[in-house]
Amino acid sequence: MQQTDAAILDREQLIALTRWFADMGVDCILSEEPHDRFAEAPQPAPASPGHQAGRQGPGGKPPLGHVSAGDRIVRASPVAAPPPPDQGALSAREAAAAAHDLDALQAALEAFEGCALKRTASRLVFADGNPAAKVMFVGEAPGADEDRQGKPFVGRAGQLLDRMLTSIGLDRENVYIANAVPWRPPGNRTPTPQETAICLPFIRRQIELADPQILVCIGASAAQTLLGIKEGITRARGKWYDYEIAEGRRIRAIAMLHPAFLLRSPARKREAWTDLRSLKKALEEKT
Ligand code: URA
Repeated sequence: MQQTDAAILDREQLIALTRWFADMGVDCILSEEPHDRFAEAPQPAPASPGHQAGRQGPGGKPPLGHVSAGDRIVRASPVAAPPPPDQGALSAREAAAAAHDLDALQAALEAFEGCALKRTASRLVFADGNPAAKVMFVGEAPGADEDRQGKPFVGRAGQLLDRMLTSIGLDRENVYIANAVPWRPPGNRTPTPQETAICLPFIRRQIELADPQILVCIGASAAQTLLGIKEGITRARGKWYDYEIAEGRRIRAIAMLHPAFLLRSPARKREAWTDLRSLKKALEEKT
């Protein structure tokens, strides 16, 4: 019998290797076999990628590559490739515009096949909190805890966000929370510009339908995506911007430091506190 590389590693080495993979961001298995994605020919796009009903294969069976592991769905190859990014962005615009309430938007996202991140994420992370709240927070993309629980900001960064909210008298009953990208990028990497562009019509529509009075962009990525700014978060934070929520209608928007960054750089919490006080004042002015 051929001896595999794994068989010649002892227990300690295997543990060390697994830890190293996790540190490098390799924390989920997508396939038993390695795939050279650069060598694969592009697959024909589905006829109407934005409007596919559910994720069912022929005869109501899950499509190839969907493997159930307990309550977690692991998506393994091969599955049809997502459509080219331009087509994904176009169908995202159509699907988002056709949704007339938040439930319909969530359903449209569940059915959307135009973003490759959906294949590696366990589930859609749509929103948490109160959609009727005066203030909406938007982060970058779900992490591992959010991907497991299906709710934004539930991991360590989310717990810090909750404490930050509490410090100005807010909680998930009076804020609405979502992400610019609603599927977890593998290994918690930053979403690519293409992935962000494909998801943009959905988050813009989500903000429009929730109709908050104030928008808070959490971290550089959300601020750059939604406010169109080029500068980094250190310069962008704490300033008030206009966000065009619908044609001719603007609301106030602010960017703040991401709680995941604050966990790594606690000395910067002072700036976050300044921004939270500014948010509190703006909310008081609205009442
Ligand atoms: N970071 C984000 O930007 N969003 C989450 O939901 C969790 C962590």
